Amino acid sequence: MRSKIVAGNWKMNKNLTETEALLTELAAKLPDTQAEVMVAPTYVNLASAVRTLESSVIEVIAQNMHFAESGAYTGEISADMLLSIGVDTAIIGHSERRAYFGETDEILAKKVVTALDKNIRVMFCFGEELEDRKSDNHFNVVESQLKNALFSLEASAWSKIVLAYEPVWAIGTGETASADQAQEMHAFIRKTITEAYDATIANNVSILYGGSVKPGNAGEIFGKPDVDGGLIGGAALVADDFVAIIKAI
Ligand code: G3P
Repeated sequence: MRSKIVAGNWKMNKNLTETEALLTELAAKLPDTQAEVMVAPTYVNLASAVRTLESSVIEVIAQNMHFAESGAYTGEISADMLLSIGVDTAIIGHSERRAYFGETDEILAKKVVTALDKNIRVMFCFGEELEDRKSDNHFNVVESQLKNALFSLEASAWSKIVLAYEPVWAIGTGETASADQAQEMHAFIRKTITEAYDATIANNVSILYGGSVKPGNAGEIFGKPDVDGGLIGGAALVADDFVAIIKAI
């Protein structure tokens, strides 16, 4: 049975004091849920976040990581550094990493392998641009992103993979994909994994939707059979909104 997950990607938001305050509020307001709840503060606040949440079931995850073990990569963070502060899940391939920092499918494939080699769970992000969808090329784009970064993995690796489908045109825009659009793509993703591996792997992988998930639309999106939760951006920065989204799963 695959997990239900609600994860907050805080992006480049909240300083140390603000992080501790929001996490303390979230921990106090966390509702009873069967879902896994995760938050991804910025790198500089991860260690503090782990300490702040040490008595909470909320998991602290990273927004990124480098593919190298160590070395001359100014400004980067390694898998071992994450593990050393108690973080063992990393978001990899977010569209903003792809767009602003030139992270290609090849680079992302290396990051995925490094993470799995270090027993770090991977939350792999992918999704089409608006022009891909307008030209009805969105299924090809998504299939290519999955194949190029993940389909060389051994079957056993998939127990450490979470997928996050985030149509780029829905991220931060308020233009949420409809629940039917999300379900259609999630079902396609599961079919693609079935063809590349088998139905067991496809049915066991959690596929999250991300892109303007809000308290008002989360319930309908999460109610779709192939949607296993959400990767939340802006709404994760407001405790009551993030709690409302958790309640919706
Ligand atoms: O990683 C989640 C993020 O890209 C979605 O952002 O603000 O549209 O919920 P937002």
